[in-house]
Amino acid sequence: MNPHDATKELATALAEARVVAVLTGAGISAESGVPTFRGPGGLWEGHRGEELATPEAFARDPVLVWRFYDWRRTKLASCEPNAGHRALVAIEKRVPHFTLATQNVDGLHRLAGSENVLELHGNIWRIYCERECHEVIDRRAPLPEPLPPRCPRCHAPLRPGVVWFGEPLPWHLFEQAEAAAQAAQVFLVIGTSGVVEPAASLARVAKHAGAFVAEFNPEETALSRYASALFRGGAGDSLSAVVTALEDM
Ligand code: OAD
Repeated sequence: MNPHDATKELATALAEARVVAVLTGAGISAESGVPTFRGPGGLWEGHRGEELATPEAFARDPVLVWRFYDWRRTKLASCEPNAGHRALVAIEKRVPHFTLATQNVDGLHRLAGSENVLELHGNIWRIYCERECHEVIDRRAPLPEPLPPRCPRCHAPLRPGVVWFGEPLPWHLFEQAEAAAQAAQVFLVIGTSGVVEPAASLARVAKHAGAFVAEFNPEETALSRYASALFRGGAGDSLSAVVTALEDM
């Protein structure tokens, strides 16, 4: 199918849908300058993100892990939502039931204006005590020294409010995402390599429940086989074209 036909087909499906669900990953924020986890730019001081985003790494060296997250926070502080984030806001406004499940911790979907957002992997601006007696939203970057920041109540190290490898997702959020995937007539998979579970399973759930699945990613991914429409450019341009087609209907 040529890109023009795919755009029209998806816009038509969106115009008719009552329930739409979306899964996004780091790729939708790439055009805002946020580094992805895998691929070029995925390394920090020679460490892979996956090596540092674990409870074991934090127990071993909380200062190293906090320096990594402080670096990410510093990069994010100057990032703005892009055309891809804004296109999802426009789609949400036109669909009766819209759910956006994101693996991103950057908060850019909400900043763009998306409302029904499920942050499956947490939010980097949230900080909480590892004994869970205290929680704050702190948008400062870099954080004041010394790292790690300490809980003002019990003095335990504070940790980033993100889900690390080996930790469970917030199940109430995942259940909502799964219910939306199950009910969706249209499911969009945007900017994710689709290799991290259980988030990736949402695309399979949607496909098996009969949704029209569309993927937005410049590269083939583990989830491409579930997609009936493939948009192989950057998410910003392709999603904007879909919104334009939708608004012309
Ligand atoms: P990845 O870094 O694994 O994948 C990013 C995807 O975005 C790749 O498939 C790229 O091809 C694609 N991409 C790059 N530029 C794009 C663009 N302009 N438009 C659309 N797509 C583009 O990121 P995730 O799949 O989000 O988990 O990674 C999943 C999880 O693994 C993350 O949430 C994080 C990570 O390690 C935790 O921190 C728990």
